[in-house]
Amino acid sequence: MRSLLSQLSDRVGAAFAAEGLDPGLGQVLVSSRPELAQFQCNGAMAAARQAGRPPRELAEAVAEKLRADPGPLEQIEVAGPGFLNLRIDDRFLAELIHESGADPRLGVKAASPSLTVLVDYAGPNVAKAMHVGHLRATIIGDSLARLFRFLGHKVIRDPHFGDWGLQMGQVIAAIEEQRPDLPFFDLESDGPYPDTSPVTLDDLQEIYPRSSARTESDPEWGERVRQVTVDLQQGRPGYLALWRHMKRVSEESQRQDFSALGVEFDLWFGESDVAELVSPLITDLRERGLAEESRGALVMRVELPDDKRDLPPLILETSRGAVLYGTTDLATILHRVRDLGVDLALYVVDARQSDHFELLFRAARRSGYAPDDVGLEHIRFGTMNGPDGRPFKTRAGGVVSLADLIELMTAAARRRLDEADLARSYPQAEREAIARQVGVAALKFGDLINNRVSDYSFDLERFSSFEGKTGPYLQYSAVRIRSIQRRAAGLGMDPGLVLPPTVEPERNLMLTLLQLPEVLERAGVLRAPNHIAEYAFELAAAWNRFYDACHIIDERNAERRGAWLALADLTLRTLTTVLDLLGIEVPERM
Ligand code: ARG
Repeated sequence: MRSLLSQLSDRVGAAFAAEGLDPGLGQVLVSSRPELAQFQCNGAMAAARQAGRPPRELAEAVAEKLRADPGPLEQIEVAGPGFLNLRIDDRFLAELIHESGADPRLGVKAASPSLTVLVDYAGPNVAKAMHVGHLRATIIGDSLARLFRFLGHKVIRDPHFGDWGLQMGQVIAAIEEQRPDLPFFDLESDGPYPDTSPVTLDDLQEIYPRSSARTESDPEWGERVRQVTVDLQQGRPGYLALWRHMKRVSEESQRQDFSALGVEFDLWFGESDVAELVSPLITDLRERGLAEESRGALVMRVELPDDKRDLPPLILETSRGAVLYGTTDLATILHRVRDLGVDLALYVVDARQSDHFELLFRAARRSGYAPDDVGLEHIRFGTMNGPDGRPFKTRAGGVVSLADLIELMTAAARRRLDEADLARSYPQAEREAIARQVGVAALKFGDLINNRVSDYSFDLERFSSFEGKTGPYLQYSAVRIRSIQRRAAGLGMDPGLVLPPTVEPERNLMLTLLQLPEVLERAGVLRAPNHIAEYAFELAAAWNRFYDACHIIDERNAERRGAWLALADLTLRTLTTVLDLLGIEVPERM
């Protein structure tokens, strides 16, 4: 089905065309002044410039054309300097609601062409548990992946583990220093090596920051770490065997965190998965004269003639022969484009890495590994701060692990459920599952409602509240619709045919439902889940106003009651769909 706005835009566009103007000027929008009109078109202002006629006169002329064949338009008025204010017929509205209800895609048309979109997000590192720094990447990336899939693209979700860089050398060097007797470090032997890990994740969490801090202050240690990194990258068997253990130990904990957040991946690749591509890539760049020596290192220059600032080159290989973050990222682009057929890659990564991606994408263009028709975008985001406006930390000033944060939110959700007297009499396991769902929803919605590039403050109380713009409020709204449906079904009341609305809250709910296609389109174009979050809230609020005004179960007129139940169905489907796009689950009951 065609969306309401596109149908109206066609009609108004045709009226512009009949005046000899560009039909694109007829674009119709939801009115910014709902008390005056449902829809508006501002095209006459732009048309006036093109045609050299006064805008108001043009708007009148277009309005005249529209009035001659108004179709579903019930009101066509010119206001102010030349706005067209429009209102549609209630019968038409009901028909569209009916059509949208019959459409499994809720009126959202599938993208054409359908692209292969790779979403690179989360980006945890081996030897470190995930912490709040990975939270936004995970939540935003997951939502964008869901959105692009819903819009009809083929989506590949890849976490791009940090598993091949200096941090590996940092940990291996430290373990070797402490326990040189371990078989992993015996240069005489090439295996077999112990099949249990000599370190736990907790050990790694302790070793890594210590070793990393030491590199700062102890140049000899820095040298050692760099050499170990190179040896690992060049395949020293004992290091590789130890590295595999560290990777497994880290991934186990990361998988748990992802599963607690309801986040999944299609690939489970890291930097090391392109290790074999690196050396042919470097040869290729050398042969084509794209790589050059600079102070002992091998680099690729990426500056462009009209750069406003100095950009350093992308370092491909250090003098010692180590490959860096940018090298594996470049090889990953080659792999994604050439082997996976990716048309668009979205890198959902902290804004502080902007320079890295600038260099990387330029290198990918210059080398031709990403032809111009492949999109490469850094989807950057701001920081999650604590209540004090500084990056979120524990009371003691440490980094908060993701697992602890989820636990904190779940505890808040339990308390909120008790306060609101919800789920009290349910079996313990169900109660606990609901608390988890509510806690995760609070966390995700608290994040996604913000414009992604802004920083925001984590606010446990506000995020977990059942009132206001929060995840729990939206879940609760959906659960309430479900419980109305159950009560109706228990009384033998069935959904029927949608009828034209009779009161304003009902009309407004219908109009809000029909905004879905443009909301999702906008969120997709801007790569901005906050538009979906905002819409979810508006929809829930519109439903709640409707339900206050229209007491479904008490309604005596069976046809009207059936129409309202149909509206309840569509509202619930739409709300759960948009919440799902935000990664938020709706409990069966609460
Ligand atoms: N592991 C990186 C970090 O923790 C993030 C990876 C982002 N993705 C990428 N292709 N560079 O900062």
